[in-house]
Parts: sequence; structure tokens; C-alpha cells
Amino acid sequence: MRTFLIAGNWKMNAGPTEAAKLAKEMAAGWKGKTFKSEALLCPPFISIPAVQSAFEGTGFQTGAQNVSNQDNGAYTGEISTSMLKDAGCSYVIIGHSERREYYGETDKLIAEKTKKTIDDGLKAILCVGELLEERKSGKQEEVVEKQVNAVLNHLGEDVSDNFVIAYEPVWAIGTGETATPEQAQEMHKFIRSLVEKSWGKSSADKVRILYGGSMKPDNAHELLSMPDVDGGLIGGASLKADSYGQILETAESI
Ligand code: 13P
Repeated sequence: MRTFLIAGNWKMNAGPTEAAKLAKEMAAGWKGKTFKSEALLCPPFISIPAVQSAFEGTGFQTGAQNVSNQDNGAYTGEISTSMLKDAGCSYVIIGHSERREYYGETDKLIAEKTKKTIDDGLKAILCVGELLEERKSGKQEEVVEKQVNAVLNHLGEDVSDNFVIAYEPVWAIGTGETATPEQAQEMHKFIRSLVEKSWGKSSADKVRILYGGSMKPDNAHELLSMPDVDGGLIGGASLKADSYGQILETAESI
């Protein structure tokens, strides 16, 4: 049985002051309670220490939205895996569609970042997903297969314990339009079959596949009830303590 991972991606929102306040509010309702899902929030780099200290003593974890593919050194503006570990992060989101689209991240770079993250002892959340035109022309599986296989091939060895995939159809991100539970299930099952081809069935059964794209309290239950949907990567709805909390409660109830 896979544990739900309810991950919030704050994107470029919430500096240290606002982030600390939001993180405290989020964790307050869960203080002292044990929960079976994993609760993860990924603030901007500069707000990670504030969020990490707000989460101290709670079950909430902190993650990053990006990482360098290089070790420490002369790479102006970059943040390394060792810095993220030092700051208390456990997960890194890699290859988000906004990074692919606005910052030119390629499958090759994303594969390198994923390998470095896992080799250096963090868990990777690899984001994949097709554009609207690609879905309209029925190419969604072809696109996602290429994105997933670029990383699986580069990883080579089975790292299923530290590897999460987030399926985020680009047309559903920040648009209010969500994939139907059936569309999500179909793609998640397909992604799991790709992992199975590389690492075998028992490893594929371990890998969590999150859905991302306008997940909200009112659609979380139907999405999370699908057999291959193992959590969410939540943007807008993770910027409010009550909506994130409701999604986490939904996961706990399933
Ligand atoms: P929204 O939930 O705002 O659609 O964003 C999804 C996302 O991109 C999470 O990484």
C-alpha cells in the first residue's frame, strides 16, 4: 500500500515572513496528531528556513522547487543538494512545466538533476505532462513516455524508494480546469507501466504518482480515490491553510 503524499508547490509566492505565518497556520491544526499521509510544502528557496523552523515538532516536511545538477562551486544563482539537505529539505520538485517552458529546462538537464538529487540523499518529484495541443491531437502518452523514459534511462538503477512522479497536464495548471479522475487514472496507470518496464512490478508498485493541476478541496476526493493516484502536487490551493488542510484531511479519510 502506498502512502499518500500531499505536496504543496508555493511557486514564486511567500517570502520568509509570509511563509512562516502560513506554515505555522498550516501545521497548527495538526500539532500532536499523527497522520498517515505525508504532508510536504515547497516554498521558494529563500523561505525554506522559515518554513522548516515553523514545522519543527510537527509531522510536516519541507521541500524545494528546483535544484542544481552540479556540486557546490562557481555556479552563480544556483542552489545545491547539499544546501537543501543542510536546510532540512527532504524532497525536491524537478522539471516542473514552468521550468521547462520559461527557463528552457530540457529532459537531459532534468534527468541529471533527478539523478543528483537521489544520489545525494534527497527524494525527487519528477514532473511530467502534456500541453493542450498534444492532448487534443492524442499525443499525450507519447509526450509523457518521452519525459519519463529520459529520466528512467539516465537513472539506470532502481531508485524507486526515493522517486516520485507528478503527472501535471499543462492545460490543467492554474486554469481551474482539472483532468477528470478517469483521465488522471489512465495516465497514471500508463506511467506506472513505464516504471515497471524499467524496474519491474514490485518497484513500480512502490513509486508514488501524484496528480497536479487545479486540485482543490472539492475535487480532491474523486482524484485521490483513483487506484493509481497517490497524492497531489498542489499549487494555488496550497497557498491557503484551510484549502491545503482540507485536501490533507481528504487523503486521511480514504
Ligand atoms: P495549480 O494547483 O495552481 O493548478 O498548480 C499545479 C501545479 O503546478 C503544482 O506544481
